[in-house]
Amino acid sequence: MCGIIGIASNKPVSINIINSLKKLEYRGYDSAGLATLTNKNINEKKCIGRVEELEKILFKTPREGNIGIGHVRWATHGVPNIVNAHPHSTDQVSVVHNGIIENSDELKKELENKGLKFKSQTDTEVITLLISEALKEHDPLNSVFKTLKKLKGSFALGILFKNFSDIIIGARRGSPLAVGYSKDENYLGSDSYALKSMTNKISYLDDGDVCVISKDEVKFYDVSLKKINKKTHILSEDENIADKGEYKNFMSKEIFEQPITAKNCVNEYIDSLKKDINIYNFPIEPTNINKIVLIGCGTAYHSCLVAKYWLEELTTIDIEIDIASEFRYRKLKFNQKNLYIFLSQSGETADTAAALDICKKNKVKTCSIVNVVESTIARNSDWVLPIHAGPEIGVASTKAFIGQLLVLFILSLKLAKIRGDINKNVYEDNIKNLIKIPEAIEESLKSENNIQLVAKEFLNAKGSMFLGRGSSFPIALEGALKLKELSYLHAEGYPAGEMKHGPLALIEEGLPVIVIAPKDKYFEKTLSNMQEVIARGGKIIFITDNKKMIANDNIRFGLRVPFLNNILSPILLTAPLQLLAYHVALLKNCDIDKPRNLAKSVTVE
Ligand code: F6R
Repeated sequence: MCGIIGIASNKPVSINIINSLKKLEYRGYDSAGLATLTNKNINEKKCIGRVEELEKILFKTPREGNIGIGHVRWATHGVPNIVNAHPHSTDQVSVVHNGIIENSDELKKELENKGLKFKSQTDTEVITLLISEALKEHDPLNSVFKTLKKLKGSFALGILFKNFSDIIIGARRGSPLAVGYSKDENYLGSDSYALKSMTNKISYLDDGDVCVISKDEVKFYDVSLKKINKKTHILSEDENIADKGEYKNFMSKEIFEQPITAKNCVNEYIDSLKKDINIYNFPIEPTNINKIVLIGCGTAYHSCLVAKYWLEELTTIDIEIDIASEFRYRKLKFNQKNLYIFLSQSGETADTAAALDICKKNKVKTCSIVNVVESTIARNSDWVLPIHAGPEIGVASTKAFIGQLLVLFILSLKLAKIRGDINKNVYEDNIKNLIKIPEAIEESLKSENNIQLVAKEFLNAKGSMFLGRGSSFPIALEGALKLKELSYLHAEGYPAGEMKHGPLALIEEGLPVIVIAPKDKYFEKTLSNMQEVIARGGKIIFITDNKKMIANDNIRFGLRVPFLNNILSPILLTAPLQLLAYHVALLKNCDIDKPRNLAKSVTVE
C-alpha cells in the first residue's frame, strides 16, 4: 500500500529519501516519486514501477535540496502512470498522500467551477489545489487546517511548501503516520520501519493530529489547532530485518525461519519448568467472559477460524468470528462481558483498525494479537499479545500466520485452565506438545523436495481446490489464498462436506485437488469426500499426519507431516501448503515477494 517519507535536514536528502522508499517497497506499490526544494523550486521526479527506476532518473538528472518528500503509490483513484504518481505539485506546494479522499469528486467540481485545472485522475490533487488556494490568504499551518476540514475519508499527508522552505507538514486521519528525530534532521514516515535506518526515536501521530517538521524541531497540533506534546518511543533492535541472507526472496526466508519464530513465540509464553503459560492481566476475568469475538482480514481471518475450533474444543466460551470489513458495518449488540480479539500481522489494516475503533466507542474490552507492537491496532487495544515473529516483508503472510495460531492456541489453553474447562493432565500435555512444535515445523518443511514435484502438476491447470474438515477447513482456505495470491491460479478452499452442495460441478479430469486429512475424527469422512472427487477425475494431492499413507492408486501425490496431537495439526499442515504456493509461483516466474495488485499493509478500506 502507499508509503510516505519526508526529511528535513541540514544536508542533501534525496539519497536518504530513495533508501527509505526502498524500505517501504514491501508494502506493495506500482509507482514512486519524490520532490525536493532547491532555491524555492519544487523538483519533482516520478517513475512507474520500482524505486530503482527513480534512483536511475535521479542519478541522470540530480536535484539536491535539504528538504523533501517521497512516496510509493498503490493505485486507487486513477491507473498507475507518471501523471498519477505522487507527489502532486502546484507552483506553491507538493503533496504525498496515503488513503482515500471520499468526497474528492465533489471538491473537484467546486475547484473546477473556480476555473482550476486538474492534471491527474487522483483524489490527491484536490488536496494540492485546496492548499494552494488557501495559501493565498493563510500561512502553511492554517492552510492545511482549512483544507483538512473539507476532506472526508481516511488519509495521511506529507506537504512541502515552495515559499516556506524549512518545513514539511504532516497530517493524520485514519492512515498511520510517524515522526522520527535525529541530530540536525527530523523525519516523517508512514511507518516506523521506513525510518529505522535513520533513527530509533519515534513519535506516532493520533487521528486528527498535524505536525510541522523542520531540521531542528517538530511541533504537534491537535484537531483544534492546540499545540500538544507527543510521547517519544525508542524502537527495539530487530535483527535480520531487511536481509534475505542465503534465500532467493523474503518469502522463502520467512517460511524457513518458522521453526525459529515459533520457538521465540513459545519461549515467550510458556514456562517449561512450571509447565504453565505466562499470560496475565486479562482485561476481563476469564471466568466472567460471556463470548469471544475474533476479527481479522485475509490470512489473519483464517487464524480466527482455526481459533474458533480450538476455543470451542477447549473451553465453554461462546465464540463468534468475523471478517473486519463485514464486522465494522454490522448492527451489533455489544456486551461488556464479551472480549473482542483483533488479529493483524501489521497492526495497520484499515478495516481491522476501524472495527477496533467501533468496539472502543462501545466501551467493550479489546485485545490485539499483532506482530508489530508499535502499530495503531496494538496501541489502541486494551490488551496486546505479540506473536514475536520478527518483521515479515513478503506480502504473503507465512510466519505471522503460524505466530497467530500459536498465540491463539496458547490463549485458548490458558483460558480453559483458568475457567476449569480442562484438567491438569490435558493442559500439561498440550504444553509439552507446544514445546515440540518448532522441531515438528522444521520436520514438516522437509517436504519441500516432494512439493517441487507436486508444483509441476499445477503449471497447466485451469484452477485447483483445497478441501478439509474441522480445523483443516481454514487451513484449506489459507492454502487456496496463498496459491491464488502468489501464482495467480484460481484456487478454491472448501469444507470437504460441502462439495456436493455445488462445487463438485467444478471437478473435471485432471483438476488438482488438495485433500487435507489429518487423522482426526473427520478422517474417514474426508476420505469419502475424496472418493467423490476421484470418481469425477480430480487429481488428488493428499496431505495427512497419519503414520501410514493410505493405499489408493488414485492419489497422485501423498505428503505426510509430523503428528503431535490432533488439536495442533493445523499448525503442522500449513508449511507444505505455503511451500506449494511458493513453488508454483516460482515455476510461473511470478514476483514472489510482491504479487501483482497486492500490498503488505492494507491501509485503505
Ligand atoms: C495473505 C495476506 C493478507 C493479510 C491481510 C491482513 O497472505 O497476507 O490476507 O493477512 O491483508 O493483514 P494484517 O494481518 O496485517 O492485518
